[in-house]
Amino acid sequence: MRALVKQSAGPGLQLVERPEPVSGPGEVKIRVERAGLCGTDLHLEQWDDWAATVVKPPLVLGHEFFGEIVGLGEGVTEVEVGQKASGEGHVVCGSCRNCRAGRRHVCIRTSSVGVNRDGAFADYVVIPASNVWVQPDDMDPDLGAVFDPLGNAVHTTLSFPLAGEDVLVTGAGPIGVMAAAIARHVGARHVVVTDISDYRLDLARNAGADLVVNVAQRRLADAQAELGMKEGFDIGLEMSGSPQAMEEMLDNLNHGARVAMLGLPQDPFPIDWGRVITHMITIKGIYGREMYDTWYSMSSMLQTSATLREAVRSVITHRFPAEKWQQGFDAARSGACGKVVLDWS
Ligand SMILES: NC(=O)c1ccc[n+]([C@@H]2O[C@H](COP(=O)([O-])OP(=O)(O)OC[C@H]3O[C@@H](n4cnc5c(N)ncnc54)[C@H](O)[C@@H]3O)[C@@H](O)[C@H]2O)c1
Ligand SMILES: [Zn+2]
Ligand SMILES: [Zn+2]
Repeated sequence: MRALVKQSAGPGLQLVERPEPVSGPGEVKIRVERAGLCGTDLHLEQWDDWAATVVKPPLVLGHEFFGEIVGLGEGVTEVEVGQKASGEGHVVCGSCRNCRAGRRHVCIRTSSVGVNRDGAFADYVVIPASNVWVQPDDMDPDLGAVFDPLGNAVHTTLSFPLAGEDVLVTGAGPIGVMAAAIARHVGARHVVVTDISDYRLDLARNAGADLVVNVAQRRLADAQAELGMKEGFDIGLEMSGSPQAMEEMLDNLNHGARVAMLGLPQDPFPIDWGRVITHMITIKGIYGREMYDTWYSMSSMLQTSATLREAVRSVITHRFPAEKWQQGFDAARSGACGKVVLDWS
């Protein structure tokens, strides 16, 4: 089969021929139709310090995917050959305290598809049966391929009740844009999105943001005034990983506001803790998706809302055949893109 592989320690990837993976006991083999490109893949391709510490080459990259089930390992009874599926990329241990309590998303020994084990930038991928999310037969493959980042957005956005609240999303990357669409869907009052890229802010506006603010040019306080907001945002969704974004968010929150943080900062950074404390702000870290509550939520919301489906689809701006993977990586790195999807069919 074809596979996009990190062959050895160092920058670069190669599209090579490899033996097909075999599904072991409890595992499922999926023929990949589409796979989404994510910031993680760019770090792995470039081979930064993080990549060097976590990856043991050779490794097939890719963790956002959609395809068809083609093989079942011993003992797998919950899914069937021929079904369409997406995959949860976090593989949990099943035996730590959190796993045993049913809180699998906070497993202390999570390993990741396409990082710690072979991934989905290939004709076939093998994952544990419990990580398979069966999709409807008529699922749009592009949409199916972005369930992982959509799940990040849904997990973050549904962390706190949003109905009637003023919501600030900092960072209009693919996940921030999807978060804006979800906040709109679940009934927020104002949904405001910030970024420093007009290209990305246009995506956010198209996906349902009421107001977008380029914070390289304009302050959030002005945007609040434009909306007639007098007390500050009730909910903050941090989706940029930028210390400046966090600082401006804290400056623009109401007392008692709640913040869900998905964006991964490159380095530790200071924040105004005095403000967090005296304004009684709640800050919650978010990693991945709840297994599998987030998956139920996002499937249900997409099923009943054509508007939300369109909004999520609009985040996919670039599609490339697998052979043109380099163009896909270039597009993703340029920042002038939403989600980039590779076609393996
Ligand atoms: N916690 C998790 O499980 C998880 C999973 C996936 C991604 N992430 C992280 O979530 C974030 C969003 O993911 P993505 O794929 O959409 O990322 P992305 O890098 O495509 O988007 C981040 C956006 O933030 C913008 N930005 C930079 N500085 C800003 C500022 N001062 N104010 C507002 N916006 C600013 C950038 O221009 C960019 O558009 C990233 O930090 C990513 O590393 C976390
Ligand atoms: Zn990802
Ligand atoms: Zn565990």
